[in-house]
Amino acid sequence: MNSYSIALIPGDGIGRDVTAAAWTVLETAAKRAGFALTGTEFPWSCKFFKETGRMMPEYGIETLRGFDAILLGAVGWPAEVPDSVSLHGLLLPIRKAFVQYANIRPHRLLPGVTGPLRAENFDILCIRENTEGEYSGAGGRVHQGTLDEVAVETSIFTRAGVERILRFGFEQARSRRGKLASVTKSNAQKYSMVFWDEITRKLAADYPDVEVTSYHVDALAARMIMAPESLDVVVASNLFGDILTDIGAAIQGGLGYAASANINPGRSAPSMFEPVHGSAPDIAHLGIANPIAAIWSGAMMLDHLGEKAAADRVVKAVEAATARGIGTIPGKDRTEAITAAIVASLT
Ligand code: IPM
Ligand code: MN
Repeated sequence: MNSYSIALIPGDGIGRDVTAAAWTVLETAAKRAGFALTGTEFPWSCKFFKETGRMMPEYGIETLRGFDAILLGAVGWPAEVPDSVSLHGLLLPIRKAFVQYANIRPHRLLPGVTGPLRAENFDILCIRENTEGEYSGAGGRVHQGTLDEVAVETSIFTRAGVERILRFGFEQARSRRGKLASVTKSNAQKYSMVFWDEITRKLAADYPDVEVTSYHVDALAARMIMAPESLDVVVASNLFGDILTDIGAAIQGGLGYAASANINPGRSAPSMFEPVHGSAPDIAHLGIANPIAAIWSGAMMLDHLGEKAAADRVVKAVEAATARGIGTIPGKDRTEAITAAIVASLT
C-alpha cells in the first residue's frame, strides 16, 4: 500500500479549522482509494513565536525536508506578531528553501457558487513565480528613524528563475487549452520586465503549439474582470501573481474557494499546499470558515503525490456539495457542516 507522510502546519486563526477539515476529507479519500496518509502536526504559528521567540525552530526546514508534502493552513496574527515577522519566519522561507518556484492557483466558479461577474464560464490557471522577483528580500534601511532614512528593496530576476517559471507556464498551457498570458510591466520597468518579455519570446519558439500573448499587468487585471473567459494560463512574477490571484479569488466568489499549491517541479524537496486566504482573525474561533479552499488545496496535494484518481474524487465531492448550495453563502454553513457534506459526497 502506498503511504505518504504529510507535515501539517495549521498555523493561526482559521488556518487551524480549515486544515482539520481538509485532513478529514483527505483521510477519507485515502482510505477509499487504498493508500495511507500519515500526518505529523507542527504547532508553528504566532502562538509558537510568543512562546519561543521563533516562528519555527532553528532546524524547522530540515525537519520538514523529510516529508512527502506539507499542508499549511494560514500564518499571521498581526495583533501580536507583525506580519512582516511571522511570514518571513515561516511561510516565505519554506517556499524559498524548498525551491517551490511554481505557485499554482486555479480560478473558476464551482457549481452553485455565484461570483460577482456576469461571466460564468471562465477557467483560469494562474502560475505565480514563488521564490524571487519582488519577494527576494534583498534590501535594507539606513539612517533608520532619522529624516535621512532610506529604504531600499530590490527585485531580483534571474535568467534561471524566469526561464523555469515560464517553461512551467508553457507546459501547463500545452496540457490545457493552449493559451498562455505572460504578465509584466515592461512599458515602465525597463530592465527586469523587458528581460522577462525577451525570455518569453525566446521560449515561445520551443512551444509552437502554445499561443502566447504578453500583457501589462494593469491591462491583465482589467481583463480578468471584463473578459475572464478569454484567459487560460496566466504566468506572472511573485508580486504581480500575488495581486492577480486575489482578483482571481474575488471573481470565483471569494477567498473561501481559492486553492493553491507551492510546487517544486523537480521534486528535490517537498511541495506545500495551502489555501490563498489568511488566518482571518475577525472570524477565527466562530467555526464558520469555509474549508473549501483548503480541501481543494489538499486535492492538489493528492494529485502531486501521484494519486490523481483520489484527487479528482475530492474535487468532485466539493462540486457535488456546492451544487446543492452547501458552502455557497458566506457564513451560512458551519465549517463542520461543509466538511461533513463533502465527506458524504465522496465516492
Ligand atoms: C499569498 C499571501 C502571501 C503572499 C503573504 C501572506 C506573504 O498573500 O500566499 O498570496 O504574498 O505570498
Ligand atoms: Mn496573496
